[in-house]
Amino acid sequence: MAVKPNANGGPERPSSAVAESRDSRGLAEVLRQRLQAVDIDAKRRSGTEAGMEAWYPYYAGYTEEFAAQVIEASNLGPKSTVLDPWNGCGTTTRVADVQGHTAIGIDINPVATLVASAKLARAQDAIHVTGLAGRLAAHSLSAPATLTSGDPLRKWLCPALTRTYRSIEQGILADLAVRDGAVLSPSAQALPPLAAFLVLALQRAARHFAGIKTTSNPTWLRPKTHAPRHDAEALTGVWLETVRAMAMDLEAAEADAHRTGSQVFLGDARNLPLGDSAVDLVVTSPPYCTRIDYVVSTSFELAALGIGDKQPSFDELRRTSMGTPLARRAAAPAAETFPDEVASVLTRIREHPSKASSSYYYKTYAQYFSDSMASVAELRRVLKPGAAAVLVVQSSYYKDIYVDLPELYVAMGQALDMRASIAAEYDVNRFLAQINSRSTAHRKSTSHREAVVVLEAA
Ligand SMILES: C[S@@+](CC[C@H](N)C(=O)[O-])C[C@H]1O[C@@H](n2cnc3c(N)ncnc32)[C@H](O)[C@@H]1O
Repeated sequence: MAVKPNANGGPERPSSAVAESRDSRGLAEVLRQRLQAVDIDAKRRSGTEAGMEAWYPYYAGYTEEFAAQVIEASNLGPKSTVLDPWNGCGTTTRVADVQGHTAIGIDINPVATLVASAKLARAQDAIHVTGLAGRLAAHSLSAPATLTSGDPLRKWLCPALTRTYRSIEQGILADLAVRDGAVLSPSAQALPPLAAFLVLALQRAARHFAGIKTTSNPTWLRPKTHAPRHDAEALTGVWLETVRAMAMDLEAAEADAHRTGSQVFLGDARNLPLGDSAVDLVVTSPPYCTRIDYVVSTSFELAALGIGDKQPSFDELRRTSMGTPLARRAAAPAAETFPDEVASVLTRIREHPSKASSSYYYKTYAQYFSDSMASVAELRRVLKPGAAAVLVVQSSYYKDIYVDLPELYVAMGQALDMRASIAAEYDVNRFLAQINSRSTAHRKSTSHREAVVVLEAA
């Protein structure tokens, strides 16, 4: 499917059909009843990931089961267009694709688009790619790549493994990721599914041998001082094993029949590469207001893609990501420019007595809501009339100030003339903020909730 389709891009379908199917009750009510009936919640329980969900366990992701329930409950016509503008590890795009829809996934982090694209690989291709993989592995041992000074992967892998890694990667890209005579760069573009599949397998294999220093904060990854030494054969052996295991996951997980032109793109939810009224459904989960640094948590994989943590592109990616803990250069928007409910939370943060509340913290929260408003406006633009966006969001705290994100997304949707409501909610007893004991010092009790917010375009 070409990006920037004309005003009615995607398979045409009468918007009334969308509205008709659930006009009387609205998708929110249909979802409420469905999610209650099937008794599932969005939360992915860490350690429970299996098969393809274990390819890259994204701590902020939702389950495939949840995405499947939401898409089915939406009563879409065949081959409808399903978008996830914060696609992460591609749960929505994978499920929508297997259900026969045209799935479009956008993410600002090239590691996320790599994982999401790999999940769109065809089992038939993956099963038959072991021959190519074997040849690339043998070549990497006989002709390892030249080590380039400043290669960011050198911080995580020893020289022998870095050369083997680069040799295999160059082979995959030269054979499976060439467009108009140019080899694609995985840090700047989403790779086609089969190339992404092999590169993801390579990253997973290399991670076994990397010197990764973990801290109490699982999202804060750092390289060890010295990368452990290993033989090149160790990496090629684990890579070939990982390719075989992932191909079996694909084969086990799928019905190939229905698949259509689904794609993932490196992009920004604040400026979607899609025409107006092009999308039948959005199923997504924006970054929460919990200041999780997705970019730092993918530091190893970013280094494998050639983006080292000392490079300007790493800092730029951190700064432009939604929910970033970094203050941007631009001045923070005034609280009064937001819908009342958002303005009230921002004002309370700005006036909080604790250190840097009126400066740094106010700014990072205002950045977050400015990004959310711009992104929700884009959702309204690309959704067909009567179509809906289903967002999973979690509440959080700033010191003792409760940031009820589900209600704030409802307020932002209403401020943008969308029909907005909460279809389901769940208590959350495990949340990342609890790793920072100081963050709970300001409040006697803490209760978080995760909710399914439905925004319907008028
Ligand atoms: C909560 S995660 C989504 C997880 C996803 N639902 C899954 O199941 O894997 C949010 C994602 O938003 C991405 N992101 C952050 N800022 C973005 C932006 N401005 N545009 C697009 N994606 C962005 C992050 O890289 C992260 O992958």
